Amino acid sequence: MDHRRPWWRTAVVYEVYLRSFADGNGDGLGDVPGLRSRLPYLAGLGVDALWVTPWYPSPMADGGYDVADHRDVDPRFGTLADVDALLDDAHALGLRVVVDLVANHTSAEHPWFRAALAAGPGSPERSRYLFRDGRAGGEDPPNDWISAFGGPAWTRVTGPGGPEQWYLHLFAPEQPDLDWTSADVREEFDGIVRSWLDRGVDGIRVDAAPALAKVPGLPDAGHAPGASFASSTWVDNPHWDVDEVHEVFRRWRRIGDTYDGDRLFVSEAVVNGPERLARYVRPDELHTTFNFDYLKAPWDARALRAVVDGTLAALAPVGAPATWVLSSHDETRHVTRFGRADSAAAVMGFDDAAAADPVLGLRRARAAALLTLALPGGAYLYQGEELGLPEVEDLPVEALQDPTWERSGHTARGRDGCRVPLPWSGDRPPFGFAPDGVPPWLPQPASWASLTVAAQDGDPSSTLSLYRAALRLRRDLLGEEPLTWLELGADVLAFDRGAALRCVVNLSAVPLPLAGLGRPLLASGAVGEAAGDALAPDTAAWLAPPG
Ligand code: GLC
Repeated sequence: MDHRRPWWRTAVVYEVYLRSFADGNGDGLGDVPGLRSRLPYLAGLGVDALWVTPWYPSPMADGGYDVADHRDVDPRFGTLADVDALLDDAHALGLRVVVDLVANHTSAEHPWFRAALAAGPGSPERSRYLFRDGRAGGEDPPNDWISAFGGPAWTRVTGPGGPEQWYLHLFAPEQPDLDWTSADVREEFDGIVRSWLDRGVDGIRVDAAPALAKVPGLPDAGHAPGASFASSTWVDNPHWDVDEVHEVFRRWRRIGDTYDGDRLFVSEAVVNGPERLARYVRPDELHTTFNFDYLKAPWDARALRAVVDGTLAALAPVGAPATWVLSSHDETRHVTRFGRADSAAAVMGFDDAAAADPVLGLRRARAAALLTLALPGGAYLYQGEELGLPEVEDLPVEALQDPTWERSGHTARGRDGCRVPLPWSGDRPPFGFAPDGVPPWLPQPASWASLTVAAQDGDPSSTLSLYRAALRLRRDLLGEEPLTWLELGADVLAFDRGAALRCVVNLSAVPLPLAGLGRPLLASGAVGEAAGDALAPDTAAWLAPPG
């Protein structure tokens, strides 16, 4: 491994969904002290960095992505001193820490938005947000833009004199969009970015990056009535992936470059294809970006290979490394997705909840982990995927908290099913997530007793052991070697990473003979003599290529 290259070019980053990772203060909600107490687990797992979802003061209308103060910590999650201690401990263990920057919107409880409401139409306070008069004499929204959580992207304000202007929110009504043409907004976020880099964070994840710029005049997008937020199909959309968004990233990059230590900017950007995505990681913009095309691809060799090739081809001209990601706090867990007849992902919890085969799903998920961790570039793991956790699809509707459930008119359950708190130990909820007797903020299934960290620890056949072994081998064997495909059949993905590692994934329905392909180092399922020297269907192996 070449240690002169920045760490983020090959890093495995573990997403900590803070509310659901570990509860340190016994209120049933995950928090910073809880995370801090579990850092040795993450270091032992073998990841390089953590991305921690928002810990800022928030009314929690969208799980903390509705930020009321971007520079502080919500008391439910801890204090700034807890964050400092977390950074110290993480760094001492060799783990880097990436924080979440929510810059497209604030909470409706943010002092700026309260001031904007109070100040009234035409005020400087309102110019930090996107307030507009309605159409049809004020009765109709200013345009046809839609919210990612369903329904229109506009809400009408009621003032002392009755209904007045509308404000834009591409997410929930409790998340008013900022106007990034405002100098106040740009300067405020310069200070926010600096405040976290000064505290010593190693990177910043840019939430909803394509949303920041809007086409002036806010023209209609031409959305069909009832359209969903399908941003990966949009072309020339006036509220998503507008070119001016890149000015913001250049501005932040200039700030980041004044700090030592290879600080990272990574964007969340669901845009139309790898060429549009590559624009986010041009040399003077962000460093890396999540690869949603890979996350959304079905369990199909041709489709996956097309995404891998398309990603690498689009990123090569800008020199940015790829990232690979299978799950997040916004998507159906891939154990469940890969067990469905249609294994392509829908985004933001808008999936059809079709029946899933859990055994098939887990087999494929384990194979997908070896595929993902063998690809060139960085990888993002979502907490609990190393335990093989499935989506929890039967949460009682009273427990659902994601705004998607209400906003979709109770047609999409949303993202709570991938956010159920982690099972650490014990044979009944809260499974060590919180002190015994404290109910977690979302109920855990009793069946997770066999999936706890404690239950899987030391069991060589467990998914946790597979991840630990894969991360160790990856660290030992892989750097920035290019990928070279081997042709072993249309339903097989096989490639070399230099001379060090060969990855073979059998997506066909029949066993794949492995004779002559190399010495098995690790496999996601049956392989080798016991399996007739073949790789079973939906199974992956890492091999040492023959010298
Ligand atoms: C991103 C986050 C998601 C949040 C949204 C609005 O997509 O990942 O959880 O709801 O931004 O901030």
